[in-house]
Amino acid sequence: MNFEAISPAKLPDLLRAMPKTELHMHIEGSLESELLFAMAKRNEVRLNHATVEELRSAYAFTDLQSFLDIYYAGASVLQQPQDFYDMAWAYFLRAKADNVVHAEIFFDPQTHTERKVSMRTVITGLHRACVDAKEKLNISSSLILCFLRHLSEESAFETLDQAIPFKEFFIGVGLDSSERGHPPEKFERVFKRARQLGFKAVAHAGEEGPPAYIWSALDVLHAERIDHGVQAIHDTALMNRLAKERIPLTVCPLSNLKLCVFPDLGKHNLGEMLNQGLCIMINSDDPAYFGGYLNENFLQTFAALNLNATDAYQLACNSFEAAFVTDEQKTAWRRQLDDCFRTFGA
Ligand code: ADE
Ligand code: ZN
Repeated sequence: MNFEAISPAKLPDLLRAMPKTELHMHIEGSLESELLFAMAKRNEVRLNHATVEELRSAYAFTDLQSFLDIYYAGASVLQQPQDFYDMAWAYFLRAKADNVVHAEIFFDPQTHTERKVSMRTVITGLHRACVDAKEKLNISSSLILCFLRHLSEESAFETLDQAIPFKEFFIGVGLDSSERGHPPEKFERVFKRARQLGFKAVAHAGEEGPPAYIWSALDVLHAERIDHGVQAIHDTALMNRLAKERIPLTVCPLSNLKLCVFPDLGKHNLGEMLNQGLCIMINSDDPAYFGGYLNENFLQTFAALNLNATDAYQLACNSFEAAFVTDEQKTAWRRQLDDCFRTFGA
């Protein structure tokens, strides 16, 4: 592949066109404020903001917690299976526009079961959208159930128990919400149970929290991927291990910008981590709140960090490598990627 043949002028179109997976996206974080207001109306939920514009103007975050407060309040409009379907379907349409071929989607059941919305309502609505995404858009997908780390171990166990009747509808468990003060160790036993049941394990770690949380996500929870992981850069031994073992980090640049993990995109460490040979890829995290879906993350990050076609190819390959799919599927996507690069002259 001749990457030099792709001029910087062609790069934005290449980034848009290339096939890619998305492995770090919270479905509740894809709920656009217009849809949120429509659901509030049909479900008769009172919101803290009077208009879409007023709500959007509150999306000025200073850290993870300031975002989570608004994100959980927004999720209160989700009540019926159709609400979960509509939210996920809207995401899949965006994903299609961005040439996403496969998505592994997080959902936060405790946000809903705490409001007496059943696990069945959540999972059946989301699952139906996943089936339609394959049938109508040719996007494959799977669901990953996340435990909220600010809640107790007991609540996580209860959540896992409630989800067991629907175990064929999700492939793994994750860990999200407020990171600081809630180390992975708190969930050692529930992750062990989930892994014994055959689920994959991933965990948010090193978003705001220290590298020690990445070590324990790997060694205590046995996470196969680390979500965010950008704080690993402060720990040389950890960086060496991540590179050597090719442990994927699902990096989310616009999220990191909006939650003030980095002061501007030009200071993001994605380029450096790529240069150090880590298996990282780009993701959108909570696109309705952070100002862009997947391609917007690619475009802004490439512009800010001056990345090139070689980087684009590597990021797309990493997004295939890190997905929970068969090797045959990865090879097929790689061929699609090569075809795409060739049409751009590579
Ligand atoms: N839940 C939704 N988005 C999140 C993030 N960026 N970090 C932790 N928990 C989250
Ligand atoms: Zn996340």
